[in-house]
Amino acid sequence: MTVVDDIKSQIDLVDIVSQTVKLRKAGKNYSGFCPFHSNTRTPAFVVFPETQTWRCFGQCNTGGDVFGYVMKRENWDFGETLKYLADKAGVTLPSYQPANEKAEEVKKTIAQLLQDAADYYRQQMIDTKQGQEALAYLRKRGLNDETIKIWGLGYAPAGWNELTNAMKRRGYTDALLVEAGLATERDDGGIYDRFRHRLMFPIRDTYGKMAGFGGRVLDPNDVPKYINSPKTELFDKGRLLYGLDLARQAIRAEEQAVIVEGYMDVIGLYQAGFKNAISPMGTALTEDQFRLLKKFSRNLVLALDPDAAGEKATLKGLETARKTMDQDTELTYDARGLLRMESRLSADIRVTTLPDGRDPDEIALADPEAWREILTQAKPVVMHVMEMAARDQDLNDAKVKREIAAQIVPLIEDVADPVEREAYRQALARMLKIDERALMGAAPPTRKARSKPAREMTVPSQERIATPAQRNRLLERVVLQALARDPEALFKLNRALVKLGIPSLNEKDFVESDFVIAFQIIQTALQQDEVATIDFVKENLPEDLELNAAEEPEFNDVRPISEAKRLEELIRNVLRIRRNLVEHRINEIVYLQSAEMEEKLYSDEEAQFLLLEQLNQRRLIDVALRLPDAGGNGKAFTTNKGTTRVKK
Ligand code: UTP
Ligand code: MN
Repeated sequence: MTVVDDIKSQIDLVDIVSQTVKLRKAGKNYSGFCPFHSNTRTPAFVVFPETQTWRCFGQCNTGGDVFGYVMKRENWDFGETLKYLADKAGVTLPSYQPANEKAEEVKKTIAQLLQDAADYYRQQMIDTKQGQEALAYLRKRGLNDETIKIWGLGYAPAGWNELTNAMKRRGYTDALLVEAGLATERDDGGIYDRFRHRLMFPIRDTYGKMAGFGGRVLDPNDVPKYINSPKTELFDKGRLLYGLDLARQAIRAEEQAVIVEGYMDVIGLYQAGFKNAISPMGTALTEDQFRLLKKFSRNLVLALDPDAAGEKATLKGLETARKTMDQDTELTYDARGLLRMESRLSADIRVTTLPDGRDPDEIALADPEAWREILTQAKPVVMHVMEMAARDQDLNDAKVKREIAAQIVPLIEDVADPVEREAYRQALARMLKIDERALMGAAPPTRKARSKPAREMTVPSQERIATPAQRNRLLERVVLQALARDPEALFKLNRALVKLGIPSLNEKDFVESDFVIAFQIIQTALQQDEVATIDFVKENLPEDLELNAAEEPEFNDVRPISEAKRLEELIRNVLRIRRNLVEHRINEIVYLQSAEMEEKLYSDEEAQFLLLEQLNQRRLIDVALRLPDAGGNGKAFTTNKGTTRVKK
């Protein structure tokens, strides 16, 4: 569920329209006078509750969803409308704060204070005697001065008021220092430095703006090992990724992000030439963080240390996953959670295990090739868990086989893609040296009930996508996701459509306002030639459009399919959208000419003509959809320049 989905499920277009338009029920639908053009004679404005859409059949001849309606009525942009409707629906917008200039000002000041603090810590490390200990430590860990500078590492002196005094001299107030997470309030009202005698790691947001700090002990007797900034206006552990500002370009270029566990790992890897690593800050990756990463690449490799967040958690995860399953936000590194994330974000998540007791920074700085090798060992989540489960086990023991199968089979069933699922089944059968068919009965009998939440998350089915409006929204999203991933596919799609006698895809095909905007961006991307199309799309798609939300396997076998197949899926989904539109249009015409309307909108001849036009389109679409291999092996659609048929 995305925010827009959420809002739509809470709000009824009929209510919203009724705020300003007097609606009269006419059959299943409502009609009234269009609020967008002056007219008091014909009630040519219709609201369709079933699809949660509206249309003015008069002068305006436009329509859309609830967002489009409010945007038009209030003359707002999408963002403003989102805020308004979210508020109405009681949905909290994660990335939106009420526009408050004063709050923005404060944030700016805090960011500046944090930057000044980072400069101060760095200067303390370079220029003071105390600081030399920190510098020596970093060098001992293999970091060179260039790296230390790039990452802005520093030293927080040991006293209680070193930083606070220095910053107060620059005019910052106690309150601001506390608000920035740099100082803590004393009972008597004074403040003291939060970070004392620690190695300082500035933490920045995706675009390099200061957000907070991590501070590592220098004295091994001190605890805890790391202190991080508390939650502040700018610092939210669950929404930031350490190193992303410096890693994002490499992540894009290499089409892969490597997730490691600590600050030192990220920095060490960077120096060793692996600039695509990032880390969370002592917690498991949240869905927000996955989403953030996915903007740069969908290929994610988790480098897990063998115990802490690694194997144990992965396997234990099988037991505890059920408990965490319902919590949408916090995700643990457990297999189920990862699979679910993979499916929801249509990412490719792989896991690689580190050799016992050695951290990525240590490995990569000593021997870059060894690190490269570890990366090539990354395996899909299921394969990883399978290997972990089998490690040190006697696979000839029937009881062991059963035990392992009982653990792994439910996991395999959670995999959204049927081809992948089958491959895992075969791999498991091979590993356990049993017949694949025997695996089917291996899951514990209670599994069905237990794993239900997981399945609902990963494979949304008819039940979840209840209303026609929701189903259509889903289709539109899947189509846009495909186009956002590969904008050029639009040309191929349109060629195929035209060949079928069906008009090209255009923005009128999208009922959903946010998707109309997304489609416009994709079109603009294709028209401009300043930056690569795909980069233009990535940069311009507003985050709140949430195209990245759950890919729906029901409509779209996303991952391991060929380009030709993907194009077919796209064509098929566009045809389905068209089919819905045509169907809707036919209903409209029939409805508008029905007895329920006080006044007929079209003459009988006009209506007849419009109807025939639509029926003809419907026939063409049905033929295309019904072709023996529509969406199957590709014979149905011409996919290349003009004539090349994709043959099996
Ligand atoms: P590690 O203990 O693995 O530390 O914690 P590290 O990053 O490898 O550091 P070195 O190599 O021992 O110097 C991994 C990450 O977990 C968070 C930090 O973000 C750290 O980088 N952490 C760890 C905390 O937030 N608090 C702690 O007390 C410990
Ligand atoms: Mn380490």
